[in-house]
Amino acid sequence: MFGEPGKTKFQIDLRRHLRGQNICDNLIHLICEVAEASKYVINAVRTGDLGVAGTSNLYGEEQLALDVLSDRIIKKRLVHSGVVCSIASEEMDDIYKVTSDTNGFYSVAYDPLDGSSLVDVNLAVGTIVSIYAGCDLFQEGRKQVAALYILYGPRVSLVYSVGNGVHEFTMNQLMEFTLTRENVRMHPNGNIYSPGGQRNKYSPGVENFIRHLEERGAKLRYSGGFVPDINQVLMKGKGIFMYPALNGSPNGKLRLLFELNPMAYLVENAGGSATNGTTPILDLKPETLDQRAPIFIGSTEDVMKAMEFVNS
Ligand code: F6P
Ligand code: MN
Repeated sequence: MFGEPGKTKFQIDLRRHLRGQNICDNLIHLICEVAEASKYVINAVRTGDLGVAGTSNLYGEEQLALDVLSDRIIKKRLVHSGVVCSIASEEMDDIYKVTSDTNGFYSVAYDPLDGSSLVDVNLAVGTIVSIYAGCDLFQEGRKQVAALYILYGPRVSLVYSVGNGVHEFTMNQLMEFTLTRENVRMHPNGNIYSPGGQRNKYSPGVENFIRHLEERGAKLRYSGGFVPDINQVLMKGKGIFMYPALNGSPNGKLRLLFELNPMAYLVENAGGSATNGTTPILDLKPETLDQRAPIFIGSTEDVMKAMEFVNS
């Protein structure tokens, strides 16, 4: 669509790209508002207080001041966007209702600063966003109308899909997101694996899958941040990320609404797959805000192989 060979190269910014996607103006506006909010989040990440805020979230985790700040930045932007009716965030205990109007409005579930405990050791973190039409947030991930993440690494990048391919934008010196990769596609298999959790808590099936990957010569590439780890698999176009069930944590760690659904939507839109071991992540029906699930996500053949091992 953009950047055809032989044509003069010019930078495509996010709004212009969204306008070529055949989606409604409210959704374009919403995604651009999230992109705007991320400029304040990256500023907070780069210069903000690393102290503890003294509050804990729904999951009993210590909240860094940066989590709270990032949550406020994004929530405020969404509330004032004029196109959002329901908001859920990993840092809020309940759904926040902006309006009961549903006509042309969207619901947003987001993780404002995933991996925030990595900021004090200066590793990459990110914001993850899942968008549904209407006010119901308890829909299968397949019903998302858009998903995106913003990765705060050495560079800031934004990766989105509205169901029509996966596209990467990078923040330039003017803090504008310009197109850097269009229609990212995943190879059926890869040679990197990114395994979360503790290996001595893996089931024999998962342990055997890891051994299979190692014997195949796959390399371990795990940063401990979901956004950079998924970004690696997606942008290299191959490999698998997993956060399996652990002994004592049958649903793994990662949350369906805020983390798994948006990433599964992006990876499926790039030709990859995501499963909890038996069911595609995008077909799981969320029942609670804090619902978790195990995940195997990435190159389709690798994900299928994981399922074989896990279920053997
Ligand atoms: O949100 C949780 C998170 O920080 C993710 O970014 C990451 O994938 C995961 O936890 C890492 O967990 P663990 O340290 O158990 O591997
Ligand atoms: Mn998180």
